[in-house]
Amino acid sequence: MTDAVTTPRLQVRPPEEADRARFVELFRDDDFMLFHPHVLSEAEAEARFDHMIDVCRTIPFGKQPVVERASGLVVGYTGVDHIDIDGRSRLEWGYRFVPEARGLGYATEASRALLEKARRTYAGELLAIIDPRNVASQNVALKLGFAFWTRSRVDGDVCDLYTLTLG
Ligand SMILES: CC(C)(COP(=O)(O)OP(=O)(O)OC[C@H]1O[C@@H](n2cnc3c(N)ncnc32)[C@H](O)[C@@H]1OP(=O)(O)O)[C@@H](O)C(=O)NCCC(=O)NCCS
Repeated sequence: MTDAVTTPRLQVRPPEEADRARFVELFRDDDFMLFHPHVLSEAEAEARFDHMIDVCRTIPFGKQPVVERASGLVVGYTGVDHIDIDGRSRLEWGYRFVPEARGLGYATEASRALLEKARRTYAGELLAIIDPRNVASQNVALKLGFAFWTRSRVDGDVCDLYTLTLG
């Protein structure tokens, strides 16, 4: 696939219709949705996957599947989505992996590779929104080059906001 980014252990590529069942299952799973306000209903999970496809139609580094090359399994996602904060539209970078694929450096490896792709087409700010208790996610963000910006409320929850400027 021409749009795919390949690392030693992973492939990061735009979503395909064939990924739907896997993501709907994951978006409904408590363990996968750790540090998310709630697991999604089936309808919400379907809508979230539709949205993932939509965003990736216009943004080459939209949230997209990460495939473990050794197993061929989709083990998570990384990339951006649109978010409005204080009335301003921004790009929010996020990642999420299945429990069996955590602690292996995959979030950093996949995100670094997709960030390289982002740098080729985008100049501007990226935002990361992280629960202050989520040390693993903070570590990933810092390794990717994000810097702490501010602590704020997002949808009522206290979050730490990090930024990274490309270009
Ligand atoms: C956050 C998450 C994506 C990290 O994925 P990962 O592939 O395990 O991340 P990496 O291995 O690339 O890096 C994680 C770093 O945090 C560290 N870490 C992991 N768990 C930790 C913990 N509980 N406390 C402190 N540090 C931790 C790791 O040691 C590693 O740092 P290091 O390279 O300096 O050793 C993954 O844990 C996950 O999917 N969590 C649930 C969903 C989530 O929280 N998404 C982010 C929402 S903002």
